[in-house]
Amino acid sequence: MTDSVNLALDKKNLDTILVLDFGSQYTQLIARRVRELNVFSEILPWDISPERIKALNPNGIILSGGPESVTALNTPRVPEIVFDLEVPILGICYGMQTLAEQFGGQVTSSKAKEFGHAEIVIEETSVLFEGFSTGSSIDVWMSHGDHVSTLPDKFNLVASTASAPIAAMQHSEKPIFALQFHPEVTHTKQGNAVLENFIFKVCNCSAQWKMENLIEQRIIDIKERVGDQKVLLGLSGGVDSSVTAMLLDRAIGKNLICVFVDNGLLRKNEAEDVENLFKEKMDLNLLVVDAKKIFYRHLKDVSDPEQKRKVIGRTFIDIFDNEASKLKDEINFLAQGTIYPDVIESSESESKEARVIKSHHNVGGLPDDMKMELVEPLRDLFKDEVRKMGAELGLPSEMLNRHPFPGPGLGVRILGEISQEKVTTLQNADAIFIEELIKANLYDQVSQAFCAYLPVKSVGVVGDERRYADVIAIRAVETVDFMTATWAKLPYDFLAHVSNRIVNELEEVSRVVYDISSKPPATIEWE
Ligand code: XMP
Repeated sequence: MTDSVNLALDKKNLDTILVLDFGSQYTQLIARRVRELNVFSEILPWDISPERIKALNPNGIILSGGPESVTALNTPRVPEIVFDLEVPILGICYGMQTLAEQFGGQVTSSKAKEFGHAEIVIEETSVLFEGFSTGSSIDVWMSHGDHVSTLPDKFNLVASTASAPIAAMQHSEKPIFALQFHPEVTHTKQGNAVLENFIFKVCNCSAQWKMENLIEQRIIDIKERVGDQKVLLGLSGGVDSSVTAMLLDRAIGKNLICVFVDNGLLRKNEAEDVENLFKEKMDLNLLVVDAKKIFYRHLKDVSDPEQKRKVIGRTFIDIFDNEASKLKDEINFLAQGTIYPDVIESSESESKEARVIKSHHNVGGLPDDMKMELVEPLRDLFKDEVRKMGAELGLPSEMLNRHPFPGPGLGVRILGEISQEKVTTLQNADAIFIEELIKANLYDQVSQAFCAYLPVKSVGVVGDERRYADVIAIRAVETVDFMTATWAKLPYDFLAHVSNRIVNELEEVSRVVYDISSKPPATIEWE
């Protein structure tokens, strides 16, 4: 079993804002806003153990919003440790309501939910609204059903709106503040100013969370932890594993061994590009394993989508394990490109189980007798921070801003049985589509774009010849979180040009269709 020991961040001198999560869709956004102000911020669930909160030693605590109602029984409350620490507190939405309730105020459920823009009027001077004069108004974003109807003892009214007379309040003796609106969303125009006041004027944090310091600090941490021992990394060519590789390379150079498995289901020229960049240009210690034939052999006669995923996953694990065991005696650490959203997703229940599953999912189950510790130097970073770090480390922007690519690769983009011929056709079609998107300046305007291979024969006429061949589907979507997505309204002329090129250049294709399904009900990938 791999020991789940992480590369702990050295927080000795790092000012930290804890975001206590009550389940709001905006919780991650709060932490990101704080970090954008160059102060480290970490999210923990509201029912986390008091020891964990204490160990974080936060300079201030923000209580997030949440979907529950404090008027209902057994709903979340702020744990006592938060008050015992005597650090500044800022409650947002549900965070405000539970503060009000816990301090003896009253919260009322309104039938009419308030959702959208509102205007608050500043009623009393507050350090939180420094820079705004009393009587002035601010455009804010509201999203709530309940509201505080009676102020708790020792709390003063700071701001109000027509529908929420108590829109902001503060304790008269302690640094405890609460807002009914959401300062973290961009619709709240002055939201950042309010957060800035809280972080710098109330919590007295200093802006230490800067990318250049961060890279230097991480390199020192890795060196201290790893010493002159060897580290193994499964490089996929994606942003997270690439940035992990570059950071480790800066820290330990040739003691980092990267393994890249070419499963034959990658984008056109991907394996060559990865080898060229990391091995030739950057001189990383990279082992490229050409496993195409093994994958195709294992995938022969497999057409069920779930079965295909399983075969691809298992084959990857076998090959990675095999390569790793060849190096067995020397390796003590396994590096992974785990990032903060992965950690948050799998730590909701604080479950060790979830982490283990995740790590097996990422790199494959390693042989039981390989005692390796995990090194995850990006595990407290958001995706945009990882990109920023990658840019600083010199990762080319084409790599940094690439659309996501699924782990099982073209295996989930070829319907039915996979063959080398189909893979080649799909790679070529996809390369044409992507090349044209970039040329037309459309690539960055869509979130993900690719071709899928449909093994449906239809007749076409190319020149004087009839052609009986398969179909290529073009897919392009716009999305923020990939949970829902809308199909991109690409210009007809552009689509016509791509379609012409694919049919003219690839004789294995007789027809091109554009996928106009959104998610839901469709998924982004075809399978
Ligand atoms: P769906 O098809 O579920 O895709 O709407 C949502 C996003 O996830 C990606 N995706 C995967 N990524 N392994 C991955 O690493 C997978 O098995 C997988 N399946 C889907 C997909 O490309 C899209 O960005």
